[in-house]
Amino acid sequence: MTSLFRLNRRDLLRRAAALAAASIASSGAAGGHARVAQRKFSAYPFSLGVASGDPVGDGFVIWTRLAPNPFDRSSLPDETIPVIWEIARDERMLNIVKRGEALARSALAHSVHVEVRGLPPGRQYWYRFRVPGGDASAIGQAWTASQIGAPLERFRFAVASCQHFEQGYFTAYDYMVKDAPQLILHLGDYIYESSWGDQVRRHDGPEPVTLEEYRSRHALYKSEPSLQRAHAHCPWLVTWDDHEVDNDYQALESEDWQDAQAFVKRRAAAYQAYYEHMPLRGISVPRDDEMRLYQRSTFGDLVSVAMIDNRQYRSPAACRSKEDGGGQVVTASCDELFESGRSMLGETQERWLTGGFARSKALWNVIGNGEMFSRLHQKTAKGEEGWWTDDWNGFPSARERVITALARSKMPNPVFVTGDIHSFWVNEVKQDFRNPSSASVATELVASSITSAGVPYDQFAAFLPDNPHVKFFDSRKRGYLLCDAGRKSLMANLRTVEDVRDPLTKDGSLGTFVIEAGNPGALRA
Ligand SMILES: [Fe+2]
Repeated sequence: MTSLFRLNRRDLLRRAAALAAASIASSGAAGGHARVAQRKFSAYPFSLGVASGDPVGDGFVIWTRLAPNPFDRSSLPDETIPVIWEIARDERMLNIVKRGEALARSALAHSVHVEVRGLPPGRQYWYRFRVPGGDASAIGQAWTASQIGAPLERFRFAVASCQHFEQGYFTAYDYMVKDAPQLILHLGDYIYESSWGDQVRRHDGPEPVTLEEYRSRHALYKSEPSLQRAHAHCPWLVTWDDHEVDNDYQALESEDWQDAQAFVKRRAAAYQAYYEHMPLRGISVPRDDEMRLYQRSTFGDLVSVAMIDNRQYRSPAACRSKEDGGGQVVTASCDELFESGRSMLGETQERWLTGGFARSKALWNVIGNGEMFSRLHQKTAKGEEGWWTDDWNGFPSARERVITALARSKMPNPVFVTGDIHSFWVNEVKQDFRNPSSASVATELVASSITSAGVPYDQFAAFLPDNPHVKFFDSRKRGYLLCDAGRKSLMANLRTVEDVRDPLTKDGSLGTFVIEAGNPGALRA
């Protein structure tokens, strides 16, 4: 990277951050004024839908992006465009309780992120965007959270991950909306940068590298109606995995040893496009090639959700080679795997996560986690004991630190909800994975993928006798988790779709597992 480039780019990002902050500040005023009386677009400007995120006691984030032609940014002028937002108490938007004006900035792909504040807690709302004198967006639903610590009897949330556009239709989201969750957690692989597997449709181009290419890829995914309906249904919490940038990348190292400076630039482009397309707060505006994504949300006295970022700050993959810079199965001969200094979360995030354990006031403490946390003891082709380096199995000392902190804190009912592996798993997180009779300190529920092809069933089923803490595994169905948290138990329904190649596919379930409060591990209902 030349210094000239870095200066320009940093300057651009700083300005983008400042502009976004200004947009957020200006959007707080009710009764916004249209600075442009009327604006005509070449096509419907709200083609990518609406979204809400991160509900708190007095508000939530609402998002849209002006995109008359999302694959041709020259369809919009390189200027700031005012957008009106409205919050109503009814689904027909008649009883409007808040209104304001936000600015869609060209530097952020004309995305709009409004942090709505000042609403009473525990209420249902509807929202929409309008351009002055012209079109209105779809109407989305959102709600304010119950105050932290306030009594809450029930909370329903869904967990999704891994939606390869080419491998299937996102019909699972239509069933998810019918299931009526109050919150959707997305645990990564929201887009895929690469093509693989059986395909029912094609991406818009080759692997994205530039900001415009990542924007285009996000727009392609966001153009899927089922996904738009799920975003409009309720607030989301999001974190990413690898494919939002590049398969199996680790912090600032690419899988295929791409030139380091080029990869820094590529990752920053991918992060910015991610921010531009998600209902995220101003704290997530990318700064100096980094983006703060981890955060904690609490709903009454019942549920807390810590969304963690397993990609941005991790140590490089253990024993990576010039042939394979990404994930691989390594054996005990890989000394680097067991080094105590290895980190999955980075020091700051790990301290933030583990430091929050003792302070939680919630009965159920969910950790939204990109990749498998539990030990998964595999067999290599030669029959040797092995571990996959790209998930928490590649960071055993970091996992041990988190387990120790969980056990010490006595935080009630920790539940990891996990993506990445395109299969359903129900696991007990053991205090000592080498000793199957050691105490369970948490439960792990792994969601299957929305569309991405599952891991080979027979190969992984063969590992189960060596992993007695795994209570359920199935990679043959795509789907999501539907979780009902109550005062006595948390129920997890393993929801499925029959065939992602069929846009009208039927739904089903692999069953419901119950975690009793105070008793880590899950039993089939
Ligand atoms: Fe995936």
